[in-house]
Amino acid sequence: MVNKETIKTWTEDRVGVIQLDRSKVLNALNRRMVTEILQTLEEWDRDDKISVMVVTGNDKLFAAGADIDEMAEDDSISLELLNQFAEWDRIAWVKKPIIAAVNGYCLGGAFELALSCDLIVAAEDAQFGFPEINLGVMPGAGGTVRLTKLMGRTKALEWLWLGEYMTAKTACENGVVNRTVAPELVFEETMKLARKIARQAPLSVRMIKETVNKSVDHSVYEAMQFERKNFYMLFSSEDQKEGMNAFVKKRKPRFKGK
Ligand code: CAA
Repeated sequence: MVNKETIKTWTEDRVGVIQLDRSKVLNALNRRMVTEILQTLEEWDRDDKISVMVVTGNDKLFAAGADIDEMAEDDSISLELLNQFAEWDRIAWVKKPIIAAVNGYCLGGAFELALSCDLIVAAEDAQFGFPEINLGVMPGAGGTVRLTKLMGRTKALEWLWLGEYMTAKTACENGVVNRTVAPELVFEETMKLARKIARQAPLSVRMIKETVNKSVDHSVYEAMQFERKNFYMLFSSEDQKEGMNAFVKKRKPRFKGK
């Protein structure tokens, strides 16, 4: 286990885990924490020994949002010069799968962090929301955009305007969360899911993420051209030969990520 200033990190099998670690302030995400999360994700993205990454809080909560104390005295120009959300944006550029494991509150910037991950596993009693409106602001790290893409315009507007918390069940029914489990099983179930994905052919996992992301932001035609190129590209990999040979010979494939 590595203890950084605001997070703890460790690896299990081929899974890298980041645990948010500012429990005194309900894991509020300050700038240092975002930097440490991003540095770790990018480092693991380049690390052959890691296939999947997990971001989690503790067994009581994921996090209560961006650090309000740190932002309270900011103004438009200081935020512009700081380029406050540039690092948050880079989370979306990580190539390997990232899973958020959520207990308890997942609010504001923390919800945005979870939405920047690829999958979310949540406790049945977890609560998701964007309370920024109660602070006289709005989400700034992709919350309005990602929530709208997932649940549609009308529903997203209501949640964002009211600033209320949605249950994990509602989040799941609206495609925001992948699965809900008993609170004490969140981490275990997330790790099971992570290990399953980690056993899949690494290049296929990577290309599928890239192509699915493309389909969110581009026309069907453009995304399908992209899909085709990635499909063809995988036929240059050793894993395609291995996977198809193994099928023909009725044995299990051994993928190498090459
Ligand atoms: N930033 C800084 N500190 C926070 C915090 C935050 N987001 N959330 C909680 N804390 C601190 C509290 O100030 C308190 O500190 P002290 O003990 O020093 O007083 C400590 O954590 C415990 O919090 P509470 O006493 O408030 O705990 P509670 O159980 O009574 O309430 C809560 C829990 C409902 C989550 C409440 O803490 C709360 O409403 N927090 C703020 C939620 C919020 O507005 N999040 C959005 C932030 S803005 C944002 O995220 C912008 C963006 O898009 C990037």
